[in-house]
Amino acid sequence: MNHPTLPPSKHQPQPYKGPSAEQVLALRKQYLSPGIFLYYKKPIMLVEGKMQYIWDDTGKRYLDGLGGIVTISVGHCHPHVVAAATKQNETLQHSTTIYLHPNIGEFAEKLASKMPGDLKVCYFVNSGSEANDLALLMARVYTGNYDMISLRNAYHGGNSSGMGMTAHSTWKFNVPHSFGFHHAIAPDPYRGPYGRNDPDAGRKYAADVKQLIDYASPGRIAGFLAESIQGVGGVVVFPDGYLKHVYEHVRAAGGVCIADEVQAGFGRTGTHFWGFETQEVVPDIVTMAKGIGNGCPLAAVVTTPQIAKVLTDRIHFNTFGGNPVVSAIGKAVLEVIEQEKLQENSLKLGKHILAGLEKLQTKHKIIGDVRGKGLMLGIELVKDRTTKEPAKAECAQILENCREMGLLVGKGGLQGNTIRFAPPMCINQADADFMLAVFDEAFANL
Ligand SMILES: Cc1ncc(COP(=O)(O)O)c(C=O)c1O
Repeated sequence: MNHPTLPPSKHQPQPYKGPSAEQVLALRKQYLSPGIFLYYKKPIMLVEGKMQYIWDDTGKRYLDGLGGIVTISVGHCHPHVVAAATKQNETLQHSTTIYLHPNIGEFAEKLASKMPGDLKVCYFVNSGSEANDLALLMARVYTGNYDMISLRNAYHGGNSSGMGMTAHSTWKFNVPHSFGFHHAIAPDPYRGPYGRNDPDAGRKYAADVKQLIDYASPGRIAGFLAESIQGVGGVVVFPDGYLKHVYEHVRAAGGVCIADEVQAGFGRTGTHFWGFETQEVVPDIVTMAKGIGNGCPLAAVVTTPQIAKVLTDRIHFNTFGGNPVVSAIGKAVLEVIEQEKLQENSLKLGKHILAGLEKLQTKHKIIGDVRGKGLMLGIELVKDRTTKEPAKAECAQILENCREMGLLVGKGGLQGNTIRFAPPMCINQADADFMLAVFDEAFANL
């Protein structure tokens, strides 16, 4: 395999002096859940990161094409974010909402300034699963209804309610978790019944939500929850107009509309700050995590004052949500996105990469589909373009090939046959060209 040259980095990593990868693996096997999984036949141990690059214990550098796990929005150890965290860590690490602290309010103000319409009230929690669980509570309490609709091929979290909203057998344990949840057809223009050449696909897919309301629920629902682009499901981009039609059906049945922006938010789609804006809708509740904290445990739910009011009926409290350190980090992340024009960068480089992927598709038969928006992109691999049989083993091999050449990417979809990439939004043109060259080589060497 030819190894394309990884663009240079000025950062000099510290020599790694900790336990070996073998020792760490042994500790993990003995003391951690046997249910967790590792990427790669020979696991990678990452020990340092700077912006779009990460280093393993041997000093090998990689371009982080998956951005942690779609969490590193502005760059590993971004100096502005580190400075904000350090300053707060040295002053007061912990406080909760039972006392006043400036950080949480200042962060909320900045976050609310990014939201459209009446979405101005912020709740802070620690993970995407918790954020979706809270949004679900809001929807049920506000509407007085119980039934919820989410989409097949969705991932919304690993807690009990998250598992209910998720619709991928891989992530669902065999315990009761889905009372009141119904899963509509995934509006997947590549695999679903209505393709990209159908201008009315959005409306047609949305009709399934109406069917669920009419046939599977009491006719009144608490709400609808969807990712704006399905991430874990393999970067599925909905047809234009889909959410608009769905929101009409949902609101007519008394429900609220929830956008899960855990992966697609914070400028990653390039054209817009929020993924739902690409579908020209304004939700009633928005959940966010991952990129909001550039890798630190921070998540949020933003809603309208009207919906927030119903949560005053009882106490809602979250011990760590919005603590002074994570609030300082969250605000710093938003400042970096603005100051460094990272949304614009996502748009420019996303277009460039997608155009490059389309060229690769004409060259490598195994590429069934390329898709995505901005820097949230996917390549779906199939054994045969007519039958679309998923090429799962080949996808795993592409990941291995890319790793060898210094590029880390992820995989998604129920069958694990879609390469996913969502690099930190600070990548440059040379990084984008490197990724394309690596993919070309990885496919050529399958
Ligand atoms: C779209 C989406 N929602 C929710 C979650 C759950 O977030 P967390 O793992 O922080 O609980 C994820 C995690 O991958 C996600 O991708």
